[in-house]
Amino acid sequence: MPPETAHALALWVLSHDMVKVSKQDDNAKLGINLWGHYFKNPIGLAAGFDKNARAFKNLLKLGFGFVEVGTVTPRPQSGNISPRLFRLPEDQAIINRMGFNNDGLVSVSQRLQKFNSFWGFIGGNIGMNKDTTDPIQDYLMGIEKLSPLVNYLVINISSPNTPGLREWQKYELFQNLIQCCVVKKKELSSSIPLLVKISPDLTLEEINILCDLCMNLGIDGLIVSNTTITRPNSLMNSKKNEAGGLSGRPIFQLSTDCLFQVYKCTKGMLPLIGVGGVSNGAEAYQKIKAGASLIQLYTSFIYGGISIIQKIKDELLDELKKDGFTSIKDAIGTAHK
Ligand code: FNR
Repeated sequence: MPPETAHALALWVLSHDMVKVSKQDDNAKLGINLWGHYFKNPIGLAAGFDKNARAFKNLLKLGFGFVEVGTVTPRPQSGNISPRLFRLPEDQAIINRMGFNNDGLVSVSQRLQKFNSFWGFIGGNIGMNKDTTDPIQDYLMGIEKLSPLVNYLVINISSPNTPGLREWQKYELFQNLIQCCVVKKKELSSSIPLLVKISPDLTLEEINILCDLCMNLGIDGLIVSNTTITRPNSLMNSKKNEAGGLSGRPIFQLSTDCLFQVYKCTKGMLPLIGVGGVSNGAEAYQKIKAGASLIQLYTSFIYGGISIIQKIKDELLDELKKDGFTSIKDAIGTAHK
């Protein structure tokens, strides 16, 4: 089945209550408090899977500790022309150049109105329209529309498939954008955590600058990382040179190194979400030791299916036990000691 068809089918099933719900309660050792909320486990679904907030309720029921919807842009847009999604099974990887195909803020907000906090924890990932004339305004609209409806917001400036988007990670543009976002949050009298999602392709110097700005401007956390435009030599599949962002196993080390640097620069003062190539408990644990408080995955969910959620949680618990930790919190950043 073509990958986009498979994705549409999976979303349809997940949005029609046709899934087996996880009945297993999470071990309390996997629980963690962040931003005033209790996460029953630290394993979340990354942005891009449920772009339009159609399936978050059942995704939470499957056992994810949290689900991030989006990226959502102010106006609906169809994204890039197909084919734009490529599976590289030998590499346990995906290349995508979807280009923020989404239903827009109005439709997504309507669906999010139905969210019941009893189901779990939800993030909203916001971006700008490809043809926007005022990118900052696009992010401010995202904050205004979604902040009453989700538990945290992500300013996505790291997707490689919207021309110019990653430029917003550069000093002046970044400073300007983040200042405006923080002011907007104040104007709304909102206490929603504002996070920034970054690329794994930043240089050490760029990471340092971004981290300093995030701390000085009042950002509440970072998501490390989005997909990469680099192509490791190890890739085997013939589609390896398709344009777009690479995700999955081949980006694990790159994104974990980036996470390690971000934790170091922020001195462990900002909660970090580690994402990129996690497919088992040992990898999730490695990200936690590098500095992540929470973990997200996408590509391994595509290849591993529903059962991978419980598998990662069980294995993570074993890793904690092996090192004598009684909670996730105790293990965060221990690779720096
Ligand atoms: C993504 N990702 C993504 N990220 C984001 O911030 N907004 C988005 O809309 C999307 N869309 C998207 C589509 C597809 C098909 C993929 C595979 C990925 C990136 C995703 O959230 C995550 O950061 C990376 O995929 C790295 O994690 P994994 O896949 O290696 O676990």
